[in-house]
Amino acid sequence: MDKNKEIRRIGVFSSGGDAPGMNAAIRAVVRTGVYHGLDVFGIYRGYEGMIEGDIVPMSKRDVGNIIHRGGTVLKTARSERFKTSEGRKTAYEALQRHKIDGLVVIGGDGSFTGGKIFHEEYGMPIIGVPGTIDNDLYGTDYTIGFDTAVNTAVEALDRIRDTAESHNRLFLVEVMGRDTGYIALNTGIASGAGAILIPESTIDLDVLMQHLEKSGKHKKLFSLIVVAEGNENGNAQQLANEIKKRFPDYDTKVTIIGHLQRGGSPSAMDRLIASRMGYAAVESILQGHSSKMVGIQNNQINLVSFDDAINKSKEIDMLQLKMAGILSL
Ligand code: F6P
Repeated sequence: MDKNKEIRRIGVFSSGGDAPGMNAAIRAVVRTGVYHGLDVFGIYRGYEGMIEGDIVPMSKRDVGNIIHRGGTVLKTARSERFKTSEGRKTAYEALQRHKIDGLVVIGGDGSFTGGKIFHEEYGMPIIGVPGTIDNDLYGTDYTIGFDTAVNTAVEALDRIRDTAESHNRLFLVEVMGRDTGYIALNTGIASGAGAILIPESTIDLDVLMQHLEKSGKHKKLFSLIVVAEGNENGNAQQLANEIKKRFPDYDTKVTIIGHLQRGGSPSAMDRLIASRMGYAAVESILQGHSSKMVGIQNNQINLVSFDDAINKSKEIDMLQLKMAGILSL
């Protein structure tokens, strides 16, 4: 049922770190909007572009040939100005000039925090689509970009394995994940790593080295350790320095995959969830929902409040970490 019949013009934008699959989500929002007879506008560079009035009309043809492309055609930014009430006022005035009466934001928790405040201050209907490689949002099993990032990291690990094995080296490979270990855990399991170090779990270096030596007794003479960048015991370089000091017999190397994980053509899974979520975002805003994020749980679309998506934490499955340890022996 259309509770908000007055919504006629919506704006779509990407915000925060780019993630592969964002273009598929933009395409879905624009085409679903056009299907419903809405005027759809693209807002460039997230909240920054909104403040600057960098807003253009988008037709269904404008989003042709982008479903397979990484990055975001609308570009993105992390806006400091939108954190100020003055910045938000300027953004609202820009939206008013274009008579935009609804928004779809594709981003992570920072982007949703901005959207929630904007909705509270100006009553602007806004729906979020989870786009971040970190997969750290409550209320959805997957965020757009996570699957591609994991696939990219696994491909890198497979390559590093070749050289690690040839030289009998210990490699610490750092993957992204500012506060959470989802990328590290999934990459580590899928690449058969000897150990996985994530922010959600602490590990004693002696225990870690004992674990690796145990593997050595089974004639496993090289090791791959996947480290999440936000790891509590230190990042890959700090850990490598410590290992070199305390276990000089190991030929220890570090690889930081970094922003490589954010680029590239999105996986089929990311294109699929982005299409479903983008479509659902427009349907939801037309049904009168606001300040909510579209998620997918148990393969079903669901809505979760921005409050929950931002404040509740999606717990890592520690049994999977335990399993990874057993499988690496
Ligand atoms: O939130 C996504 C993410 O890729 C994190 O994993 C990483 O810590 C951060 O963005 C890097 O941000 P930036 O590209 O702004 O350096």
